[in-house]
Amino acid sequence: MDLKAKFTQFEQINLEAELGGGVEKIEKLHHAGRKTARERINQLLDRGTFNEIDKLVTHRATDFGIDKTKIPGDGVVTGYGKIHGRLVYVFAQDFTVFGGTLSRSNADKIVKIQEMAVKMGAPVIGLNDSGGARIQEGVQSLAGYADIFFQNVLSSGVVPQISAILGPCAGGAVYSPALTDFIFMVDKSSHMFVTGPEVIKTVTHEDVTKEELGGAVTHSTKSGVAHFTGANEEQTLMMVRELLSFIPSNNMEDAPAQVCTDPVNRIDTSLNEVVPVDPNKPYDMKEIIHRIIDDEHFLEVQEQYAKNIIIGFARMGGKSVGIVANQPAHLAGVLDINSSIKAARFVRFCDAFNIPLVTLVDVPGFLPGTNQEFGGIIKHGAKLLYAFAEATVPKITLITRKAYGGAYDVMSSKHIGADVNYAFPTAEIAVMGPEGAINILHRNKLSDEEKAQAVQDYRDAFANPYKAASLGYVDEIILPQNSRAKIIQALEMTQNKRKSNLPRKHGNIPL
Ligand code: HXC
Repeated sequence: MDLKAKFTQFEQINLEAELGGGVEKIEKLHHAGRKTARERINQLLDRGTFNEIDKLVTHRATDFGIDKTKIPGDGVVTGYGKIHGRLVYVFAQDFTVFGGTLSRSNADKIVKIQEMAVKMGAPVIGLNDSGGARIQEGVQSLAGYADIFFQNVLSSGVVPQISAILGPCAGGAVYSPALTDFIFMVDKSSHMFVTGPEVIKTVTHEDVTKEELGGAVTHSTKSGVAHFTGANEEQTLMMVRELLSFIPSNNMEDAPAQVCTDPVNRIDTSLNEVVPVDPNKPYDMKEIIHRIIDDEHFLEVQEQYAKNIIIGFARMGGKSVGIVANQPAHLAGVLDINSSIKAARFVRFCDAFNIPLVTLVDVPGFLPGTNQEFGGIIKHGAKLLYAFAEATVPKITLITRKAYGGAYDVMSSKHIGADVNYAFPTAEIAVMGPEGAINILHRNKLSDEEKAQAVQDYRDAFANPYKAASLGYVDEIILPQNSRAKIIQALEMTQNKRKSNLPRKHGNIPL
C-alpha cells in the first residue's frame, strides 16, 4: 500500500467512525429533535477544542451474532476539550450505534476519561442517551456499569461531575448520573427511571406514561433528581457551560473569578422595603438575592423543587458564592424533609469545591405534621445541620426576619461555625413565634386582652435581634440597604480562612 492509499484508508476509517450508526439512524434522531453525540459535543465545547480519544475502539462480544456488526467507537464518543478556555473531559453516548448501549469496551472508554479527569484535575461531563446495558454482552455490561459507578464515587468531591440526560436513561444506568453532582434534563425528550412503565404495570398495576414517570418535569418538581431543565438540547448544553463558569476545575482550586463591574459598595435603598412590617406577611426572598449579588445574575439550582428553600450560584465582587436562602413566599419558608435534603447536598458541594456560603435566613421552624415525622424529618433535617456544621468554607449568614427554634441553629448559625453573622433590624431570633410561645406559657388561662398584652411583651423582649447581638451570636445588625457591601466585605475578610476538621476516615452524615 503506497502512502496515498494509507492516508485514504485512514480517512475512510475516520469517516466510518464519525458516521456512527449511519445516515438513516442520524436522520431518525434529528427527526425526534435529538442530536448526534458529536453534534452535542461540538455545541458544548469551545469551538475546535475537542480531541477525541479511542475513536477506533470496537466491542469484543460474539454472542447473538453481534460480532458481525462492529462500528468504530462502539457507541460512545469520548475525549477532552475546553469550556470558557478551561479543560473538561466529556463522554457522549451515541444512540445511533446499538442504541447508545453500554458494552465492555464502551465502559472502558468512559472509565479512561474518568481516570484522566481525576489525574489532571478537570470536570467530567457525561452526555447520556442510551438503551442501558447492552443485552448481548450480559454481565460484562453490568461490570462496565459498576466500573463507572466506582469511578463516580472515587471522583466525588475531587472533580466536578456533571450529567446531561438527552434521551433515555433507564434501569441501573440511572445510577451513574445519580452519583454525579448535577443532573441536567431536556424537557420532553429525556427520561430517567429505574423500572419503566411496562414493568410498573405488571408489578403494581399502575398506569403511567414514560413522561409522567421519568420526564424532566417529574424529576425537577416531584423527585428532585434533576437540578436543571432546558427547553431543548441547545439550551441545556448552554446551561452546562454556565454552571461551569461558577465552579472550580477540582477541589484544590478556587472557582474562577470574573471582573466585577457592579460596584461592591452599591447601596440599594429599595432593599429597606422588601421585608414587610407585618411578620406574618410573605415576601419574595429572591428580591433580596437579586439585589445583593453581582448584576442580578443568579443561577438557581432545583428551582422548581422544594421551593421553600432557594439554592444557587452567584458572584459577589466577582467571586463565586453558593447561596442558601429560606423562601417566605412558599410555605412561609419552613424547613421540611425535601428542602433540608436539597440544601444539604448543595452545601456539601460548595464545601467540597471551595465555594463560600452565603445564607439568608427567614425560617419559622420545621414543618409540623405526621407526614413529616413519619417521613423522618428528624434524620433529614439533621442532614442540613450536619452539612452546615461540617463545612469549612467561609460562611456568611444574614437573618432577614424569623430565625426560630432549631431552624435558627441549623441555618448556618454562629454556633455551628458561621464566620460572620448579620441581622436586619427586622430580625426575630427566638425559640418560637410570639403566639405559639404565649399559648404554651399560659395555656388557656389568659383573657383575650391579657393574651394580646403577653404577645406584645414577648414580641418586645424576643422578636428582635438585640438579645442575640448582646450575646455575640449576631456580630452586627445592618441596614438592608448595606447588605451587598457588608457581605462582600465579610467575604473578603474570610477569603484566606484556614479551617479543617479533625482527621478521620469520614463522618457519618445521617442518610
Ligand atoms: C442492545 C439495544 C438495547 C439494549 C436498545 N437497543 N436497547 N440493544 N441492548 N439494551 C437497540 C435496539 O435493538 C435498536 O437497534 C436500537 O438500539 C434503537 O432502539 P429502538 O428500540 O429502535 O429505539 P427507540 O424506539 O427510540 O427506543 C429506545 C429505548 C428502547 C426506549 C431505549 O430501545 C428500550 O426500551 N430498550 C431497552 C431498554 C432497557 O430495558 N435496557 C435495559 C435497562 S436495565 P437497531 O439495530 O434496530 O437500530 C440496565 C441495567 C443496567 O440497563 C444495570 C447497571 C447496574
